[in-house]
Amino acid sequence: MPDSVASSSLTSRRVYRLISHEGSPQIRTSEDATPALGPHDVLVRIEAASLNYRDLLILRGQLGAVRDGLIPLSDGAGHVAAVGEKVTRWKAGDRVATIFYPDWIDGPYREAFGPTALGGGNADGALATQIAVPETALVRIPETLSVEEAATLPCAAVTAWHALVVRGQLAAGDTVLVQGTGGVALFALQIANAFGARTIILSSSDEKAKRARELGAAATVNYRTTPEWDVEVRKLTDGLGASHILELGGPDTFDRSLRSLRAAGRIAQIGVFTGKGPQSNLFRLQLINATIDGINVGSREHFEALNAFITAHGLKPVIDSTYGPDDVPAAYDRLASGRHFGKIVIKL
Ligand SMILES: NC(=O)c1ccc[n+]([C@@H]2O[C@H](COP(=O)([O-])OP(=O)(O)OC[C@H]3O[C@@H](n4cnc5c(N)ncnc54)[C@H](OP(=O)(O)O)[C@@H]3O)[C@@H](O)[C@H]2O)c1
Repeated sequence: MPDSVASSSLTSRRVYRLISHEGSPQIRTSEDATPALGPHDVLVRIEAASLNYRDLLILRGQLGAVRDGLIPLSDGAGHVAAVGEKVTRWKAGDRVATIFYPDWIDGPYREAFGPTALGGGNADGALATQIAVPETALVRIPETLSVEEAATLPCAAVTAWHALVVRGQLAAGDTVLVQGTGGVALFALQIANAFGARTIILSSSDEKAKRARELGAAATVNYRTTPEWDVEVRKLTDGLGASHILELGGPDTFDRSLRSLRAAGRIAQIGVFTGKGPQSNLFRLQLINATIDGINVGSREHFEALNAFITAHGLKPVIDSTYGPDDVPAAYDRLASGRHFGKIVIKL
């Protein structure tokens, strides 16, 4: 352990781990030794973390096997507590957030990144009071955001940015269709608004739809009471359809998304609410010269561009609720309930 750690009285950390107990997953806490740092590693004091739908799937074992004792969650933010002897990017006290794929710095996605995603498979995540990560696997928190707000960004916000801006090349006057009012959805709404695009939100709740309109949605459709929401979306767009669609539902929503899409438009294939791998007839895609972009979160470069945009436009993440260090199971329950509007944060 480098001197910088030894001298800082950081000798132990509180860690949350996924443990399989009699066949059902549980979250257990323990006090562990502060992780050792390699020369290029940074010790981050994680002060807040946030939940994504992925974390529920991981807890339920629906995203494949995870190592027993895995530290969950991809999203964490806090302060640099100590740095390895060769670290040049950070110093103690810097405000930082984790990146989802520690090795995806810039350029195109590579399949080798997959198993390294924080908080899944065999890769420990951010739900601990201290974590050690390579110095390249962090971004600086926007000065306009608190640590709790910054903890909402690494997965959901980067995904929305990658989909709409990097791949979607969003422009003023475009029309964006977004499913639901969860984390990815509300970041998409805020980003689209800031671009001067028009946003239509689908929600199962009239109360959440009202809040989405207050946040700037031009129109909302209740997908429960209007199951043929694609027809409504076409009416709301003078029969043309939306130019950009964030597909969060999966097999049960994909065909309606295709029917809601404008000629030459783009669907960002992101979500798995109703399962994986839509089996769609893609003839309509050909007919209207449209594009499907497969989106898998994003790179550090995407995250840094998003942070600059957040600062320039004064965007504030929508936080549904904040839970304390002893209430992690309650935070997961809130996510599972589907009653949330925006992001769920855990303060460590
Ligand atoms: N590909 C990637 O890189 C990537 C990254 C992040 C997330 N995702 C995926 O994207 C989706 C959203 O993730 P998240 O973390 O933002 O989720 P979340 O915060 O848990 O969003 C939950 C909300 O989504 C809405 N919803 C649920 N089922 C729906 C359905 N069948 N049709 C339309 N809306 C539905 C509901 O909103 P209302 O209550 O308003 O109806 C629900 O409250 C998930 O499937 C997640 O796995 C993928």
